Parts: sequence; structure tokens; C-alpha cells
Amino acid sequence: MTDSAVEQSVQDDLHDDVAAPAERMRPRVVLGVSGGIAAYKSCELLRRFTESGHDVTVVPTAAALEFVGAPTWAALSGKPVATDVWTGVEQVPHVRIGQSADLVVVAPATADLIAKAAHGLADDLLTNTLLTARCPIVFAPAMHTEMWEHPATVTNVATLRERGVLVIEPAEGRLTGKDTGKGRLPEPAEIFDVCLDVLSRGATGPDLAGRQVVVSAGGTREYLDPVRFLGNRSSGLQGYALARTAAARGAEVTLVAANVTLPDPAGVKVVSVSTTAELRDAVVSAAASADAVVMAAAPADFRPTAVSGDKIKKAADGSAPAIELVQNPDILKEISHTRAHPGQVIVGFAAETGDDTGSVLELARAKLARKGCDVLVVNDVSGGAVFGSPENEAVILATDGSATQVARGTKASLAHAIWDQVARRLT
Ligand SMILES: Cc1cc2nc3c(=O)[nH]c(=O)nc-3n(C[C@H](O)[C@H](O)[C@H](O)COP(=O)(O)O)c2cc1C
Repeated sequence: MTDSAVEQSVQDDLHDDVAAPAERMRPRVVLGVSGGIAAYKSCELLRRFTESGHDVTVVPTAAALEFVGAPTWAALSGKPVATDVWTGVEQVPHVRIGQSADLVVVAPATADLIAKAAHGLADDLLTNTLLTARCPIVFAPAMHTEMWEHPATVTNVATLRERGVLVIEPAEGRLTGKDTGKGRLPEPAEIFDVCLDVLSRGATGPDLAGRQVVVSAGGTREYLDPVRFLGNRSSGLQGYALARTAAARGAEVTLVAANVTLPDPAGVKVVSVSTTAELRDAVVSAAASADAVVMAAAPADFRPTAVSGDKIKKAADGSAPAIELVQNPDILKEISHTRAHPGQVIVGFAAETGDDTGSVLELARAKLARKGCDVLVVNDVSGGAVFGSPENEAVILATDGSATQVARGTKASLAHAIWDQVARRLT
């Protein structure tokens, strides 16, 4: 593309909102890319946005173009890209791009870009865009551990978070060279999910910023011998949705995951466990400093009295072994009755089926009182409809006597309804 063609195309983009009302319905995303080795991963992020109907303007820094060239961003977004404020200047892109955005996401965000944003510098198109945007802003930092932990970066990240910017915690793993540590860009699919979440909530802002929350997910296993276990059908999808949405609302999240095979949500610390005893220890330890704990995991109520060290063999006479069970500790009851601090909010889940003794809601109200938690999310699991499904519906019971019906929808929407309840109690 010639310079004048680029300029014309930039102008066309800037006229989009007046020219095509249908186009305007598409959420406008600005994808800022700064000069880190992970810039190539943002190509996948860009693809996810465009393929799901978003209108994306890529604004790379000059350093970002050292890693991935302008033609790649232009071809994938269907729009020209500029790094400076002088291209198509009569349309004042340094102001218009930020002003008309519904979301700005910077991935990867370098230490340098974070520092510039924290100090309000505006020496290229991306930093100008960050100053003119009034929509939600998400940063996905990626850098070496030393850079991430440097006091300058720590202060800059804190400044951005105080201003309402959602800064996703980097992942741990392989970095640019042979070294590993914290500083890796979370997977594009995970960043994308966070962005969708932020977009769906609009300008509500990260209302859980500065809060530490613990979420448990999955189902525990109780071993009979080295190869067999008693388990349950919990997939972990609801717990992972809770962790992802809490992170998208700015919380520092510890996710205690029991036997879940889903990818780690972006910016979330994942602690993997298997048995109920392990789940209990991990939750109790993380809850000590938490503002809220949401127990979405399904712990096994019983475990075998003894675990055989060897695989249990079939008996020659065709008889089956008798398995004696003991009750497991009640984690929800324990953490509700021994709260780390008085204002801590505890949320439990009740997967109920009605029986002769009462309806689903009657049994759930009794459970809320028995467990001592603040909020109980009640699923009617008659027929096993919830397990592994991307959708859920529930009634959220609280100790103030309220019962909030959450209509069938995504597990993320139920997660938000639960965090709304938590956020209300935390303030
Ligand atoms: C090979 C290579 C990889 C780099 N990776 C990163 C990185 O992952 N994160 C980071 O903060 N800086 C990284 N840098 C340094 C930045 O490119 C440098 O600070 C640059 O000035 C950033 O410019 P920008 O913030 O305007 O994009 C890397 C540099 C090189 C040469």
C-alpha cells in the first residue's frame, strides 16, 4: 500500500461511525501491541476478535513492528496500521481512535509502555490513544521476571490499577530465552475471554480491584487403590468462570482446582489438588488472607477408610470387596465458622435434588443455616443437567433472606451475579 492509500484508508476508518450504522453496532476494540517477544501471540488475539465480529484497530508501537511487521497487522485486521500521530492527521487519529473505542487492550504490554502509561506520556499513537480513551482498558503485561518485579514496574502497575485499568497478572513459564519465571503473556484465548467479559460489563470498572478472592473448582477424588477412585461429575467450568470473571473485575484470584483439565484462566494463581483433604488444606491456607471465598468445587462427602497400596485384585470366587467409608471434613462449614476476619464473605454451592423431606429450596435454606456461610448458590441438579454444560441457572440465597433467581445463561453470567452479591457485601 502506498502512503496516500494508507492515509485514505485511515480516513475511511475514521468515518466508519457516520458512514455505516450497522458497522457501528460492532464493538470497537483497539489492540495496542508493544515491543515484546510475545507480540506474535497477539496475532491470534486479533484473529479471535475479528472472527467474533469485533471491529479492531491495531495500534503497534515502533518497537512492536521489530517483532511483527505492519503488513501482518494490516492484513489480519483489514485496516492500515500506524505507530505515529502524523498519519491521516486531518482526522486527528491520536484523539479519535481512543475516543471512539469500546475497549482498549494492550497485549503484550512492555515495562516501557506500562511506565509511559502510568506517567501519562504521549509520544506515539498508542500512548496518545491511552490518554484519550474513556472506555475500559486492559493491559496484559509480558516481560522478564526481573522487569516485572522491579520496584519501578510494581509502582507503575499499582498506579494503573488505582486508576481503574485492568492489569492482568502475567503467567509463569518459559520466557524469551531459556529461562522460566513469572512474566509470560497469558494465552491469547484467555486474554480474549477477559476482554469479552470486560466488554460485556461496559464501564462498570474493576469493582473487585485490591480484593483477594479464593475460588475452588472441580471435583475431588478419593482413592481406593493406586488406580481407582470415587469421584463426581463436576467439570470445573463454573469455578473457572468464577475465577476468570473475578480477575476481569480486578481481583487477585487463587483458584484451587480439583482434577480439572481446563486451561488456566489468565492472571489467576492455580493450585492443583486431588483429594478432599488436599482441597481443604489449600482452601484454608489461601482463605487466611482472602476477602472472599467461593466454594464451587464438589468435594466428596465420603472417602474409603483405608487406601490399598496395591491394586485390589479380583477374587477367584467372584465376590466383590466391601468398601467401608468415613465422612470427609466439611470445608464450607469449617471456613464459615472460623473466618480469617469478620468481614470475610463466604459463598457455598448446593447441588440439590428435592426429596421426601423438602423441595430443593427448602433443603437449600436449611443448608445455608447449617453451613454458616453468607450466600448459597443453589443448583437443581435433578437429571444431572448442569454437569459439563456451558450453561447454568440458579437461585442465590443469602442470610438476609433474599433469593435471587438467575435465569439460564452462561456460567460467566451466573459468576457475575455471584460476584455482584460478594461486591455488595464487601463494600
Ligand atoms: C528480543 C527482545 C525481546 C524483548 N522482550 C521484551 C518483553 O517481553 N517485555 C518488555 O517489557 N520488553 C522487552 N524488550 C525490550 C523492549 O523492546 C524495549 O523496552 C522497547 O523500548 C519497548 O518499546 P515500546 O514499549 O514502545 O514497545 C525486548 C527487547 C528485545 C530486543
